[in-house]
Amino acid sequence: MDARAEVYMNAASTGPSPVRSIAAQREFIERRAAPHTVDYEDQFGTLARCRDLVASLLNARTSEIAMATNTGAGINLAAWGLPLGRGDTMVVPDGEFPANMYPWLGASRARGFDVCVVPLRNGLLDEDALLSALDGRGVKALSVSWTSFASGDVADLATLGAACQARDIVFVVDGIQGLGPLTLDVAKVKVDILACGAQKWLLSPWGSGFTFVRRELLDVITPQPVSWMAVRGSDDFSRLVDYELAWRDDARRFEQVTLAYQDFAGMAASLELLAELGKENVAAHVATCTRALLSGAAERGVECVTSIERHAGIASVRPRDAEQASARLGARGVIHSLREGTIRLSPYCYTTDADVEATLDALAD
Ligand SMILES: Cc1ncc(COP(=O)(O)O)c(C=O)c1O
Repeated sequence: MDARAEVYMNAASTGPSPVRSIAAQREFIERRAAPHTVDYEDQFGTLARCRDLVASLLNARTSEIAMATNTGAGINLAAWGLPLGRGDTMVVPDGEFPANMYPWLGASRARGFDVCVVPLRNGLLDEDALLSALDGRGVKALSVSWTSFASGDVADLATLGAACQARDIVFVVDGIQGLGPLTLDVAKVKVDILACGAQKWLLSPWGSGFTFVRRELLDVITPQPVSWMAVRGSDDFSRLVDYELAWRDDARRFEQVTLAYQDFAGMAASLELLAELGKENVAAHVATCTRALLSGAAERGVECVTSIERHAGIASVRPRDAEQASARLGARGVIHSLREGTIRLSPYCYTTDADVEATLDALAD
């Protein structure tokens, strides 16, 4: 992407690919033309590198990370693999991105558990109502988006995680709109399962992502779908038909094969770039840009949907005529999204002051 010809305010849709990520993917694909030049270490070592990088991003153990193709994989793992059945309830807020709704609805129909959908308050997460819902009958799981795709509102993971822990409820988080603009230390914040596609804020290829599963839950969740490499000894290709259903000791029991190694080579390169920039530095820069967009919009008389006190990298604003504002932004090369009647702006680590100014000028003309 020619980053300077356009103002890219759309990381919440798809993150742009860093040059080194493209190079890593290209190199892998070119070698793939002669598959024998791509050895075991290239394939499985690439996935191992990704697991290490994700673990360090979250302060998790590598053994708690399964690489995955998208967010939905982790949510489905929770919905179908957790011990949930008739008489059990899972709680989810309304207004979730469908990746955190349909897997629960589908699994509940098949498995017989109930889904308790907690209404939003003024379009934002109602944390008090969510906390009250946790005390309902048979509640076994809570699943929330860390950051709402539409409003940009941010869930208080520490409070919700502690409330779940106190009640022995599994806490599942759709992390895709949070990780990158925000940081998470899973040694401190009690998230049990974090489902995260990497195609947005982790600047990685489509079809790359991961699922974090807290160690204590490894044996609680039934692996599904069952991959042929989910079992111990499956690295030994000389005894593939010595079937023994003994899960791997780590989260690789939840990983699918064969994954698109070239995409994970790209993901590893992107994660290395983010690590070099420093996760705290990235988060601080995004916070500055997002706040500047929100306060600048408010000064220009544009309604802000996202709170300036509680945001990640999404600034959702509602101009009087959103479609017209969207057309104006588009004409000035400001790449953005129109979601639920609001303009969604999502700056990131590459965003400059000039980008913010150009966006605000186009927004409020
Ligand atoms: C909150 C949220 N969850 C999930 C997704 C995507 O899910 P998946 O990675 O499964 O495509 C998106 C956006 O596309 C999103 O905004």
